[in-house]
Amino acid sequence: EKYNYGVIGLGVMGRNLLYNIADNGFSTVGFDLDEEKVIELRKGVASGTKVVGSVSLEEFVSSLDSPRKIILMVPAGKPVDAVLESITPLLSPNDVVIDAGNSYFKDTERRRADLASKNLHFMGMGVSGGEQGARRGPSIMPGGDLEVFNLVKPMLEVISAKVNGEPCTAYMGKGAAGNYVKMVHNGIEYAIMQLISEAYDLLRKGANLTNEQLYEVFKRWNEGEMNSFLIEITRDIFQQKDDVTDGFLVDKILDKAGAKGTGKWTSQEAMEVGVSIPTIDIAVTSRILSAYKDERVKASQLYAKEEVKTPEDTELFIKEVGDALYLSTLISYAQGLALLVKASEEYQFEIPLKDVVKIWRGGCIIRSVLLEKFYLAYSKYENLSNILLDQEISEIVKDKISSLRKTAAFAVSNGIPSLGIQSALGYFEAYTTASLPVNLLQAQRDYFGAHTYQRTDREGVFHTSWQNVNN
Ligand code: 6PG
Repeated sequence: EKYNYGVIGLGVMGRNLLYNIADNGFSTVGFDLDEEKVIELRKGVASGTKVVGSVSLEEFVSSLDSPRKIILMVPAGKPVDAVLESITPLLSPNDVVIDAGNSYFKDTERRRADLASKNLHFMGMGVSGGEQGARRGPSIMPGGDLEVFNLVKPMLEVISAKVNGEPCTAYMGKGAAGNYVKMVHNGIEYAIMQLISEAYDLLRKGANLTNEQLYEVFKRWNEGEMNSFLIEITRDIFQQKDDVTDGFLVDKILDKAGAKGTGKWTSQEAMEVGVSIPTIDIAVTSRILSAYKDERVKASQLYAKEEVKTPEDTELFIKEVGDALYLSTLISYAQGLALLVKASEEYQFEIPLKDVVKIWRGGCIIRSVLLEKFYLAYSKYENLSNILLDQEISEIVKDKISSLRKTAAFAVSNGIPSLGIQSALGYFEAYTTASLPVNLLQAQRDYFGAHTYQRTDREGVFHTSWQNVNN
């Protein structure tokens, strides 16, 4: 008796993904070195599904159909290499190993080459949606060899989330494209989370909203054009009472952010390929800054802030903050998508941007109704270099830009930190400016280092012996 799919790593994500595959009619076998996890797996098996668990890698491997299809759900980095090292000697030519974790794309390239030399297939596949997504339908971003993708496509399509009946999975391109797309997804996730937190700060410090009122605001936002997973969970967070003390849990949580690396990789990568993604960069660095809690407390005493001037019209203020959040979120997507366009050329991934935004519409952490608009934009013109250049999108932007400017100005004049909002606005202002003051910067470079410059009125590369007026 052979099984269709194998899953290695039976933590919550691995287990849930396995059950999801089994729910959809595939027999599955799970492996984990930790016997407790295998026992846990057996306990949750739904009736009518075929699931077994094993602590023996040999037994696990020999119980799989040929070619074997094995999904890894282990932490990115060394654990993936350790699993590959122990499993590859047990595999047969043409077997397929799919890494469904948040692996670094260059690791995937290396592992692909390594397994290919052993006649084995390796695929990097981004999976988003957290525990619930894995169980009920995630957004799935597979990349690599098309034939391998086609082999697992029917399974991926049934286990993924659906939007208008369409599966939230598609081929993301060659090589490590799947991991790359997931990395950028996470970079955008960081940016949106930062922006939502800043909007929250503005509403509580600027308009003195209580958690109950914040709940109502986010509820309203989620019912309209800002409908998205992150706005929805934020709404719910404002309702959560603390079961240790009185009051709301959110007020008891220490303001120091954690991070596991995918946001940082996105920023490093953007620098590497030369794409400007300041709002994602700011989101990464803001998490770093948040960790200086002790220093921040000291500095707040040294540099006491003036009292915030509460806006006269609270409703109008809430509307403007909402519009600012909507637009700065849109700008963060624009930055991340622009990175995908450039990286796709740089690494010859051939990433279909239209499919990226299509499969992000459901299942993943950054799902939002806004993605439907991006999908339409890419459906019209697949090679759009930046979503801000789309006519329809420009109408939305023009409608909200004054709110973004006003909200940014309010934050600045009241000393409320708003790195994300300022960066989104700053990016927009620069991106939409035909003539930047960089002519002066180029002159300086040429002045002190003979770095040369180009001219607006003539072809070619120029250098000038600049006059030092003091000589
Ligand atoms: C998802 C998430 C998930 C990721 C965390 C990492 O798409 O389901 O992106 O894959 O593990 O969100 O974020 P941190 O770096 O904040 O831990």
